[in-house]
Amino acid sequence: MSRQTRAIIHPKALQANFSRLQPSLPSRAIAVIKADAYGHGAVNVASALRDRCECFAVAICDEVHPLREAGITQPVVVLEGPHDKQDCVVAKSSNCILVVHNQVQLEWLSELPPQHRPVIWLKVDSGMHRLGFSVQEAARVLAENSWLTEQPCVLVTHFACADEPDNPFNAQQIEQFNQIAVNSGLPVCMANSAATLAHPETSGAWCRLGIGMYGATPLANETAKALSLEAAMTLQAEVIGLHRIKKGESVGYSQTWFADRDSVIATVGIGYADGYPRHCPSGTPVIVNGHRAALAGRVSMDMITVDVTDIPEVSLQDKVELWGRQLPVDEVAAWAGTISYELTTRVSTRVPRVLEQISEGA
Ligand SMILES: Cc1ncc(COP(=O)(O)O)c(C=O)c1O
Repeated sequence: MSRQTRAIIHPKALQANFSRLQPSLPSRAIAVIKADAYGHGAVNVASALRDRCECFAVAICDEVHPLREAGITQPVVVLEGPHDKQDCVVAKSSNCILVVHNQVQLEWLSELPPQHRPVIWLKVDSGMHRLGFSVQEAARVLAENSWLTEQPCVLVTHFACADEPDNPFNAQQIEQFNQIAVNSGLPVCMANSAATLAHPETSGAWCRLGIGMYGATPLANETAKALSLEAAMTLQAEVIGLHRIKKGESVGYSQTWFADRDSVIATVGIGYADGYPRHCPSGTPVIVNGHRAALAGRVSMDMITVDVTDIPEVSLQDKVELWGRQLPVDEVAAWAGTISYELTTRVSTRVPRVLEQISEGA
């Protein structure tokens, strides 16, 4: 790890954000750590939350094994449920809860001897039309498979527009879901980070906290800072080259940036192969020695170039923050025309995740 490019993970921020988002009892929070905890490292995040989180969630069964190998013992909800019969067999011994969303999964599970069946939650499609049984199908499934309600079944659904609290589709989904939730009397799990904040009445028995826990905003019209959420990842690199160029000269591939004055350009050791988005245009902010500077020219595979003309005394090996504590990931995502979820999950395996040590007494 001679190159100083790092994703520094802040456990205190994860803990603070988790507490901040936790709904009031009797609702309980599941920490969503799928996709390697949105790029933060699933074991890092589960370890940071080990003493305060009762249950984790991943997308697929394969994501459970590293957690168990790291000694994480809490139940893990598998949001896509089983992808084959073997997933069903392994789920019980690995203390997984499978969210079942289609008939084939249901058949795999019903063929297992009852004592080998894991806990099963049922996914209801309340309008997103991505996964789940319709309200009518779910009612039939529950009626035809009484074994489902003889185990600790929870009804699960997912909002399409929770990041827009005033979107009327939220109320439509709640109304649709309530048709089965109220009739069945089963506990429910509906809310993601956005709904937990903006529609606390949807927190149900369990809510599922993802992006807010990582310190990015779940809401389209609020910043993370306004919601008192702290960055859980700082993506950092260092200056590996410095060039004085003349007014009128260009920087980088395809000559997309020309200096409008004599300029100093810092080359920084991170590129799109590390997960820094190639879509970031010139002007995208980065932090050099605590000062804002701007990307100048195309993002390359392993490097970016930054206009540091106005920043005092930049030297080789100076630290550069691409996003994190000094520069919200949401802001960089907006420059890249995407969302924070994509930026953090795309930080590549070439970038070491370094868990910030919590100092004594801190
Ligand atoms: C089914 C499901 N539940 C919960 C979440 C967590 O959502 P958020 O990260 O917006 O809190 C996700 C995220 O993609 C999801 O797909």
